Amino acid sequence: MQRVAVITGASSGLGAELARALAGRGWRCVLLARREDRLRELADAIEADYEVCDVADREQVDAVAARVLDRHPRIGILVNNAGIPAGRADFLTVEPDVLERVFAVNFFAGVWVTRALMPGLEAAAPAHLVNMVSVAGTMAVGPYSASKHAQIAFSRTLASQLRPRGIRVLTVKPGYVETEGFPQRSRMGPLGRRFVVDPPFVAERVVKAIERGRGELTVPRWYWFGSAAQALAPGLLSRFVGGNLGR
Ligand SMILES: NC(=O)c1ccc[n+]([C@@H]2O[C@H](COP(=O)([O-])OP(=O)(O)OC[C@H]3O[C@@H](n4cnc5c(N)ncnc54)[C@H](OP(=O)(O)O)[C@@H]3O)[C@@H](O)[C@H]2O)c1
Repeated sequence: MQRVAVITGASSGLGAELARALAGRGWRCVLLARREDRLRELADAIEADYEVCDVADREQVDAVAARVLDRHPRIGILVNNAGIPAGRADFLTVEPDVLERVFAVNFFAGVWVTRALMPGLEAAAPAHLVNMVSVAGTMAVGPYSASKHAQIAFSRTLASQLRPRGIRVLTVKPGYVETEGFPQRSRMGPLGRRFVVDPPFVAERVVKAIERGRGELTVPRWYWFGSAAQALAPGLLSRFVGGNLGR
């Protein structure tokens, strides 16, 4: 029987690329996002199924999860990838609706989707839960990074909780990646652009990390120095890169 992977935020960027990479390795993908035209196009191309779903809406998540579990009682991989930037927002001036939306999509959605699909992961164990966080989640640089901090805490907490149940949790922390929602290159000067990678680079490394059963992945690897610098000297790195990572 074909192994099943569910990927949220699969209509573009990292989610779409990850779906292509997993389909290329024989996984049957279930694609979740809001833009149906995009989902249909990708599903046709990689022989996947899809569900239109606003993952920040708990009722929609529960209804979609019930349909997915009906078709696929065993889910070998769940990737919580859907996410949005916060613009150049800071905590003192950001519109409350924007702040709530950023947390709803970047943090709460992963919690709701994981809870709703947990029976499928347990039925498929050994299985994998992948949370697409960000290196920004290891730094204190504004609302976006705060939402990703929360997602890291969720991911690492579940890593120890789910291991005895045969579910490995992978926390992925990408650096700058050029995507629709995060058009990094256009925001940077010539030097900064050299630090931006493309989705296939990240997707390939994520798939390898899943196959190796790893718990944490920083990609590209050298971004790890930024996280370490923040941990050792809180505030220093925030002052240095705050404007960019806080998107
Ligand atoms: N690009 C970067 O530099 C970077 C770096 C580190 C981490 N990340 C993280 O990587 C993940 C993917 O981002 P990306 O760069 O690939 O951006 P992207 O191309 O804009 O993709 C975001 C995806 O999330 C989906 N999405 C957004 N809100 C949603 C909602 N309420 N319900 C369902 N789906 C929703 C979008 O689909 P619809 O609009 O069709 O719903 C889209 O498929 C995010 O979690 C992001 O925080 C990105």
